[in-house]
Amino acid sequence: MKAYRAALLRFDSNDQPVHDTDGLLVTAPDASGTQRVVACGAWSALRHLLDQPDASGIEVQHWPGKLIAPGFVDAHVHYPQVDVIGSPADGLLPWLEHYTFPAETRFADAGHAQHMARVFLDELQRNGVTTALAFATSHPESVNALLTEAQARRMRLITGMCLMDQNAPDGLRNPPSAPGLADAAEHSLLQTESLIRHWHGKGRLGYAITPRFVPTCSDVQLRGAGELAARYPDVWVQSHVAENRNEIAWVRQLYPQARSYLDVYHRYGLLRERTVYAHGIYLDDADRALLRDTGSAIAVSPTSNLFLGSGLFDFEAAQRSGHLHGLASDVGGGTSFSPFETMKAAYFTGRMALEAQGGVPKPGLSLSPSRMWWLHTAGGAQSLGLAGTVGNLNVGAEADFVVLDPSATPLLARRTAAAQSVEEWLFAFIILADDRAVASTVLA
Ligand code: GUN
Ligand code: ZN
Repeated sequence: MKAYRAALLRFDSNDQPVHDTDGLLVTAPDASGTQRVVACGAWSALRHLLDQPDASGIEVQHWPGKLIAPGFVDAHVHYPQVDVIGSPADGLLPWLEHYTFPAETRFADAGHAQHMARVFLDELQRNGVTTALAFATSHPESVNALLTEAQARRMRLITGMCLMDQNAPDGLRNPPSAPGLADAAEHSLLQTESLIRHWHGKGRLGYAITPRFVPTCSDVQLRGAGELAARYPDVWVQSHVAENRNEIAWVRQLYPQARSYLDVYHRYGLLRERTVYAHGIYLDDADRALLRDTGSAIAVSPTSNLFLGSGLFDFEAAQRSGHLHGLASDVGGGTSFSPFETMKAAYFTGRMALEAQGGVPKPGLSLSPSRMWWLHTAGGAQSLGLAGTVGNLNVGAEADFVVLDPSATPLLARRTAAAQSVEEWLFAFIILADDRAVASTVLA
């Protein structure tokens, strides 16, 4: 058993924030050794737990002046793109061609993949991210490197090998197996299945079937991905959809018969629970209803959308339709690992809603601080089908949490001290905090 005392933030069953100025978090290991939340609430209401016989000898870790909050969930990030952050280009497709694909090609080298897996997970932890759904590259070595490193840290991490058998350079495009055996599509699907069997559900790890996006996947490959998604229903699916106008025009050329970009994935059986599509900027209400009805989620990636000039996610329409969505860094299209940066960009995006949906005027939206925080913790977990497991500090949840320091910088200290409400206090973090405010990240 372990006990931690500090201010506490969590979300109730109506997704509303609950803030204890002096709180207690108690955790205990389950049969597999994962620490889970046993109790969480006001110190005054829970301190008696420490007098019980099974709590004798527990030392309470006390962090006066700090905040314990659920670890952040990054619903979409690319681990091979750490060194691509801040590469300028005229939009998504040139950025992929000139920077991203060359950087990813290097992950054929297992040593490079292993080194970058460490760099990547260090960055997640430094920034308070405790769960991530991450793209690897098209090389199985890249998946093995990341999951080996995550396992050593007991981190909840989901990843998958990129399926991309066309429209990608040599060295990154999925290759056929030995001459005369499997072609590239078949080979990539066999590799995927073998990675699922090896890794999925091992400790806290998960596998995601990962068709990169429609233009890089052949018809045979997308059909095979859909078949695997049906055969392994608790394995995740991750991809990209409706991010950029040129990308969408390309998909329309490839699939003129489809109703929309999202409909292409639907036709291949790639919409179901535990399916997470990044971006979803250019969707219509029929697409949103399809997402909602299939239990699929959008990973909203605002720093990436602003950096690449892709467009503005329509938070109002998403909320109205009721489809799952959570926040994501999308590093390296995204510019920061920091959840505070992502929430800040989400706020800017909401305010700038005028241009959403192809220029149809809309009033700007002020996302509330607690709503953005929820979308990056409990809401992100819900989008991944992990509600109750991570992203909150409810009893039974895995004990992934961050310890935040409201005095980490002089300006943050001034602004949090002057806050009149929890909303104002959280907003001060969103606008002013960075990794210096993450005093500690605790994994299970
Ligand atoms: N679409 C296909 N691949 C990518 C990628 O790596 N990043 C982003 N932002 N969009 C993509
Ligand atoms: Zn992405």
